[in-house]
Amino acid sequence: MSDFRLRPFEWSDVPAITRIYRHYVDHTAITFDTEAPDETAIAEKYAGLLRLGHPVIIAERAGKPIGYAYASFYRPRAAYRFTCEDSLYLDPAETGRGIGKAMLSELLAQSRAFGFKQMLAVITADTANSVGIHERFGFRRVGYYEAVGLKFDRWHDIVHLQLAL
Ligand SMILES: CC(C)(COP(=O)(O)OP(=O)(O)OC[C@H]1O[C@@H](n2cnc3c(N)ncnc32)[C@H](O)[C@@H]1OP(=O)(O)O)[C@@H](O)C(=O)NCCC(=O)NCCS
Repeated sequence: MSDFRLRPFEWSDVPAITRIYRHYVDHTAITFDTEAPDETAIAEKYAGLLRLGHPVIIAERAGKPIGYAYASFYRPRAAYRFTCEDSLYLDPAETGRGIGKAMLSELLAQSRAFGFKQMLAVITADTANSVGIHERFGFRRVGYYEAVGLKFDRWHDIVHLQLAL
């Protein structure tokens, strides 16, 4: 189904974002969080993103949020202020239908408009679709870190991909 639309974040999206992220925290090493943040923590995080004016995009179908994407500072130190890191998460039932591509395309446009000059994607190395979607948009592999995350009793590598905006 392609009857989704992209729109800005609203506070009523917090429960859906919390639920979507919890799935990936609890069941995958895509994120290195091991405890899922609750709705209060998610609301605080998004308040911070909005305060900074950073791009935040919601994908919804029939009024229901099914995914989200944002770009924010790669690192907090001031010299990094033109470099962002992206995050894209879809409801697991919604993957593989082009929604991620639509979100990343819009996120790139909004990140350019914001003034970011470089975007980094920090990805658990064996996540083929996440690496693939970034490469499809021209991101290049620029870094590889071995065994930096321990989750589910396994050491995980990460790959850094970068796109000049
Ligand atoms: C990563 C994610 C956002 C992608 O969104 P999606 O809607 O599933 O992906 P789309 O259908 O829009 O596009 C998939 C693209 O990724 C690439 N891709 C998908 N599966 C792939 C695979 N197994 N190997 C390589 N590339 C792959 C392809 O380029 C594909 O586009 P194409 O089919 O037109 O060539 C989504 O799957 C997701 O939320 N995954 C879990 C969370 C996550 O990994 N987030 C990224 C870390 S921040």
